[in-house]
Amino acid sequence: MSYEYLIFGQQNINFAPIQFKGMAEQAKIVLEGKEYEYPVITGTENEKAIDISKLRGETGYVTLDIGFKNTAATSSAITYLDGEQGLLRHRGYSIEDLADKASFTEVVYLILYGELPNEAQYKEFNAQLRDHTLVNEGLDSMFKAFPTGAHPMGQLMSMISALGLFYPKSLDPNREDDAVNRTVIRLLAKMPTICAMISKKGHGHPVVFPRNDLDYVTNYLNMTFGQVSMLDYEPDPVIVSAMNKLLILHADHEQNCSASTVRVVGSSQSNLYSSVASGVAALWGPLHGGANQKVLEMLEMIMEDGGDVQKYLDKAKDKSDNFRLMGFGHRVYKNFDPRARIIKKTCDEVLNKLGVNDPVLEIAKKLETAALTDPYFVERKLYPNVDFYSGIIYRAMGFPTEFFTVLFALGRLPGWIAQWQELRGEKQPISRPRQVYTGETARPFVFMKDRA
Ligand code: ACO
Repeated sequence: MSYEYLIFGQQNINFAPIQFKGMAEQAKIVLEGKEYEYPVITGTENEKAIDISKLRGETGYVTLDIGFKNTAATSSAITYLDGEQGLLRHRGYSIEDLADKASFTEVVYLILYGELPNEAQYKEFNAQLRDHTLVNEGLDSMFKAFPTGAHPMGQLMSMISALGLFYPKSLDPNREDDAVNRTVIRLLAKMPTICAMISKKGHGHPVVFPRNDLDYVTNYLNMTFGQVSMLDYEPDPVIVSAMNKLLILHADHEQNCSASTVRVVGSSQSNLYSSVASGVAALWGPLHGGANQKVLEMLEMIMEDGGDVQKYLDKAKDKSDNFRLMGFGHRVYKNFDPRARIIKKTCDEVLNKLGVNDPVLEIAKKLETAALTDPYFVERKLYPNVDFYSGIIYRAMGFPTEFFTVLFALGRLPGWIAQWQELRGEKQPISRPRQVYTGETARPFVFMKDRA
């Protein structure tokens, strides 16, 4: 059996049944003197996993893995990541190639539908996106009621959630017509408009309407930096190219915290809007996407405190101090984050082109050099991650610090959607982890008058 989505009435994309490269080996587990065997499965890049899906039924045992450090919660054909070697590929294409040669919308198509689009598909895809860029006036009224100064990520989460309320007929994720794909297109098309509305509100400026003659990235920049009174805003090609790259670098990152959240929520057959809104909520946290805001705040704090980088390295190493070096470390990358390398180069290009001489960048460079030679960071394999340099570029482009994580969300949207689509396409079961209970054992109820 295979699963299909209808795309633009042109072509059916197959969600093939899960194929593992190998299932020959067995892992043996001995429990209470009895031996059990579980299949060892091999992914297409030779990564191995023990399939323990029958463990509890056969033995009564569960596995304990707090924070999912060793648990593959799903198989997936979207993104391959090798943290030891610093590799990242979407649908087989390296992140270096995609960032260098593709447009963001090509990457969106690739991530969603499995293949790079041909010219006709690309044209049709962009036309579909352009058809849905406006947001309903009702949504705008709700948006206007948000308090000035509300955090952009809170606004984004609410707007995506509310967007679904305007399309009640397309909420059912199991509909077999083109409704699910229309929802996908709507979300992708309206996201730049919503993000730009949030920016404009932050500055107290009037909203700039989408211009459907522009490509996805230029249209977004126009809505963000253009003015109603200035119809001929032309973003610098270096900025368009940098924004394109930044969005591509954030497009998907396999089973990270927000993608897993989208999958968990989607597994209850919750609709795409609410699943994506929950992804935004997960991304907001400082240990995930919210780190890009925190990196800049940290660098500014170090600068204002006299620029003593060593003082902050020592604080990060001190276990009695809660301070962490934001933008350093990654759950999966234990060598380097390939996205950080690309971003660092882009950062130099943007700053040179704009003639920006940002003292914060000097602090960032000093901090990076010091951390990369410090035994604490070396032993723990803590390297700069994607968030370390992205904030400096966003700042040079003119985005306020609080807005940075919204830009991450704008880039990550196709990844969340693809993860949700894959889950639904494969008709995966509801996510429902087990636990090991550590609370009180059964005890009789005590009436209030008898309680100590
Ligand atoms: N600063 C100082 N010490 C750190 C840091 C850091 N940024 N990151 C990890 N460590 C230390 C931990 O204290 C721990 O030390 P220990 O072994 O002596 O106890 C060790 O390195 C391992 O860290 P964990 O927290 O167990 O690693 P985990 O995989 O759970 O966390 C995480 C990864 C959350 C990214 C972590 O490195 C961190 O908090 N980094 C800062 C926040 C950040 O930049 N987040 C963005 C991640 S990328 C993204 O989501 C887009």
